[in-house]
Amino acid sequence: MDTKIVRINPEKVEDFEKELKEAAEIIKRGGLVAFPTETVYGLGANALDSSASEKIYKAKGRPSDNPLIIHIADKKDYEKYCIVENSSFEKLVEDFVPGPITIIQKKRDIIPDTVTAGMDTVAVRLPSHKIAKRLIELAGVPIAAPSANTSGRPSPTKAEHVIEDMLGRVDMIIDGGECEVGLESTIVLLKQDGATLLRPGGITLEMLKESIGDIKIDKAIKGKLEKDEKPLAPGMKYRHYAPRVPVVILKGEREAVLNFMNKEIKKEGTGIICYREDGFDGENVEVLGSIDDKNEMAHRLFDLLRKFDSKNSVKVIYTPLPPESDIGLALVNRLIKASGYTVKEV
Ligand code: TXA
Ligand code: MG
Repeated sequence: MDTKIVRINPEKVEDFEKELKEAAEIIKRGGLVAFPTETVYGLGANALDSSASEKIYKAKGRPSDNPLIIHIADKKDYEKYCIVENSSFEKLVEDFVPGPITIIQKKRDIIPDTVTAGMDTVAVRLPSHKIAKRLIELAGVPIAAPSANTSGRPSPTKAEHVIEDMLGRVDMIIDGGECEVGLESTIVLLKQDGATLLRPGGITLEMLKESIGDIKIDKAIKGKLEKDEKPLAPGMKYRHYAPRVPVVILKGEREAVLNFMNKEIKKEGTGIICYREDGFDGENVEVLGSIDDKNEMAHRLFDLLRKFDSKNSVKVIYTPLPPESDIGLALVNRLIKASGYTVKEV
């Protein structure tokens, strides 16, 4: 399939109605469009069209038991697709929507089983990104969109990542520059009996607690599940976000971690992802961000993991375990998944 690539300036979306209408037409007739959001790029299809959504699973090589998030452009649309059973819903929407949060509630019949992988719940998100919002409005239907990476690879935060993974597999890629947050949305499951955090992201656990009070945390976020245990979000069981090279997370006092990295970097085949203040440099060193700026780290993480895929001499990547507060919990979660739970105490 030929993939059309169009560049849209997210600051001047109103100047790109022609391009966005063309993208919306593709969605309406059952095709695939990759587009930017404030979290990561999404791979979109008409969420009300079962065969269009099937194409998403095929293009990504995604297991069919892993449900999709549907994207809407108007707060009024939530209740067209899901059933509200918990009053925390209104609070979450008031405090964080539009933005990097996905809310899972009981689904209505209009959403096909292909989209929800047969589950009786549906994940809905209203992105704040102007390109995403206008595309959904023009399509006139909700857009099902997982992250626009090949299944198992780090999520795309730049159009070039999408091109790497999806060229020839989708009808159109909208290049809208870099995604601001850089990690996928926070996912909250709302049931009659309470709220559970299934995936940490830009809307942090601290912000959620401040907004709705009590919230449970799914064990799959930080811990490895036993063979017979199932995470509440099916996607959390896969070895996600993984670069070609094995990742080892270093846990310990900062000085011990620095000493370890200092020793290892002298060996051939060692790669390092470190903080700017750590003072390492060289071909196999990538800087995640300043130690005081977890937003910068989140923004850069997936790009760095992808960069290591082209450093052919690197055989192992070491990186410190980031602090868990704020968006740090999301960083820890993605790094732990990328490492396949390989945490080394130093
Ligand atoms: O930021 C994001 O959320 C991005 C952008 C494109 O919006 N999308 C994204 O989608 O990260 P994806 O498919 O890569 O991740 C969706 C996660 C998966 O772990 C999936 O298992 C979970 O959400 N999920 C979706 N629907 C669910 C449901 N009904 N119940 C439980 N988990 C669900
Ligand atoms: Mg994904």
